[in-house]
Amino acid sequence: MDLGLQNKHVLVTGAAGGIGLETVRMFLAEGARITAAYHSSLGQLQQLLNEHRRLLTVQGDISREEDVRGIFEEANSHFGRVDVLVANAGIANETGVGVDEMTVEQWQRTLNVNLTGAFLCAKYFFKNLKTFRDHTAALIFVGSTAGVFGEAWHSDYATSKAGLYGLMLSLKNEIVYLAHRGRVNMVNPGWTKTPMAEDALKDLDMVKRIHQTIPMRKTATTHDIASAIVFLASDHAASHMSGQAITVAGGMEGRVLYTAEEALSWESEP
Ligand SMILES: NC(=O)c1ccc[n+]([C@@H]2O[C@H](COP(=O)([O-])OP(=O)(O)OC[C@H]3O[C@@H](n4cnc5c(N)ncnc54)[C@H](OP(=O)(O)O)[C@@H]3O)[C@@H](O)[C@H]2O)c1
Repeated sequence: MDLGLQNKHVLVTGAAGGIGLETVRMFLAEGARITAAYHSSLGQLQQLLNEHRRLLTVQGDISREEDVRGIFEEANSHFGRVDVLVANAGIANETGVGVDEMTVEQWQRTLNVNLTGAFLCAKYFFKNLKTFRDHTAALIFVGSTAGVFGEAWHSDYATSKAGLYGLMLSLKNEIVYLAHRGRVNMVNPGWTKTPMAEDALKDLDMVKRIHQTIPMRKTATTHDIASAIVFLASDHAASHMSGQAITVAGGMEGRVLYTAEEALSWESEP
């Protein structure tokens, strides 16, 4: 099936990261033009830059409004209207901490990047749609199963991702005033093999716990996640889909909270 992404201008944030890079690669293979927004370093984007003329890289911190404005200005002046935004950049604290010990600084930092950053990207994406009128547009937020099931010791992260759901539902009703066939959706990855999850996935006990709730007994590859993003970006494949949060997690049903022994340990408690 022709996804109709040839020459579409796609802006991907967090483009040097695991999911972002695979998403860039997949859009390039579909013939799209890409603005790859990265944060601290180009990483493997450098090699793609050497190979593709349809790729622009722009540095910026998505939690800073002036940076996001700059990213969109460069994107617009290089490739014109941004047709698709993939709001993918995000952070997660490696070490978990209970809410009673969580600092306000950690809470605010996570929300600033994951939620305010996504809001800022959506804001400048919509401004770009206002300037360059056309009938289609697609915005895809990258959430997390943490926003669906919650995640103990990572309440900042889970809250930031659940917040994206409300943003997505609201913006799907706004986008149509700027592009009458515009669509806003969300992909919620489960555990995925990327630098963000690398350390946690080295722990076999952790992997066992994760797989216990997943019928397919597998952690996701970046290809699994990028495929869903590209599908939602396509006006041909997902032409009438808007306001949807697609969980890509092998059928995950929730979280293992207790081991078999722990499950009975409070049985005799009042
Ligand atoms: N991997 C998983 O298991 C998993 C599961 C559920 C959801 N997700 C979500 O998937 C998305 C992609 O994550 P990933 O797994 O691909 O992790 P990753 O490899 O760490 O990629 C995240 C990217 O976001 C960028 N970023 C972080 N802070 C930023 C900022 N302030 N401004 C601009 N960019 C910033 C990072 O750049 P720097 O490294 O240069 O800072 C990095 O390239 C995230 O939103 C994440 O929450 C991942």
